[in-house]
Amino acid sequence: MLATHCLPCHGSNGAAPIRLDTPEAVERHRLLAAALVEDGTMPPSIAGGRVRSRALPSEDRLRLAALLRSATPPAVPSPHPAPEERDAANLAATLATTLAPQHAWTMPASGGARVRTFVIPSDARPTDGAAQGAGETLRVRGVRFADPGSLARSPIRMVSIAADPRRSMRRLDAADGEPGIDAMGNIGSVPSGALGALSRTSVRFELPPGFHLEVPPGDIVVETTCEPIGRRAAVLPRIAWIPATATDTRAVRAIALPVRGLAVDAGSCQTQELRHRMAEDADIVAVIVKGGAFLRTAAIAAGEAALVEVPDFRMAFNEPWCLTEPVRIGRGAELVARLGFDNTADNPQQPSSPPRDVVAGLPPYGEDAIVIVLYAVAE
Ligand code: HEC
Repeated sequence: MLATHCLPCHGSNGAAPIRLDTPEAVERHRLLAAALVEDGTMPPSIAGGRVRSRALPSEDRLRLAALLRSATPPAVPSPHPAPEERDAANLAATLATTLAPQHAWTMPASGGARVRTFVIPSDARPTDGAAQGAGETLRVRGVRFADPGSLARSPIRMVSIAADPRRSMRRLDAADGEPGIDAMGNIGSVPSGALGALSRTSVRFELPPGFHLEVPPGDIVVETTCEPIGRRAAVLPRIAWIPATATDTRAVRAIALPVRGLAVDAGSCQTQELRHRMAEDADIVAVIVKGGAFLRTAAIAAGEAALVEVPDFRMAFNEPWCLTEPVRIGRGAELVARLGFDNTADNPQQPSSPPRDVVAGLPPYGEDAIVIVLYAVAE
């Protein structure tokens, strides 16, 4: 059970902060692990709806918790490499490049979440050396962390990726004096996340077969949401493309539903409803929700169909959500996102005591929230 349900994240190349792959490690953490398994925090699965759930059936949950609580630590079987790891090994051979900023930015030891955005030059070089030339648009099925194990001791919680073919963010980057920019990674009307997103609970983002993302030559902009980890720590996102194949013919685009002018008074709650009317028939493939400490609930629907429901949003467990099946939405139908904000003392993520007024802007002084919907025009 540990191998199947925990080690993908708590194993040698996992992104979680502790390892559970030796009897000694299990012994050290087993009571906390039992408590977190019992209350459903682990394995993390904060979203419901048409998305894959990691939640354990209740009998497995109780059995695993009981095993962890028992005095004898379970012997941990050496896990077969997860398909993801095997793929990663294969991909390492085919991928020509890992994208990374040239220099790391340093996250303070404490003081609230921060957003830091990096510009990475990329000429969309070919991944297989044949199909595409440098300077051409690259087709990818998705994106992955080049080295998920390095996230275990990193402040990075989520990265969202966008293309900047005009290289316009560079100027900001150059002006800022430090590596990275203190800004959301949106480029004009292109939302950050248009090329997918990654997090510690989703170290690989892959579109369903048949779909691809288009990466034009130019710069790649990588927005990182970071949380302090109690010591100063380097922030250096390293990502790699997952190449598309010839049959992944449908290009995926992004729609952004941003919260505008957020203002949540101290001690109050608020629901924001965001709407977008579709201009054409489309198949929705993924949903990305971005928010900080004050975002507590999210519900995204396409017309009548509920896509993703997050009843207890946690920045630490946020991830991009690929739908289990693409969902068709007709022209004229509406995408609706309802985001609930809580700026009371009851919010378990509340950073201030007593709560303070929250206004739009970057953390740690403000909050912005945005929903990004990835879709392909219906065939
Ligand atoms: C999809 C990835 C993922 C899976 C699967 C997963 N975890 Fe975790 N786990 C995490 C992350 C990420 C954190 C860190 C959360 C944070 O920073 O708030 C964590 C934290 C923990 C912690 C607390 C560590 C600490 O000291 O804060 C324990 C204990 C734990 N997990 C146990 C488990 C057990 C037991 C399982 C299997 C039943 C499991 N996890 C499955 C990602 C995962």
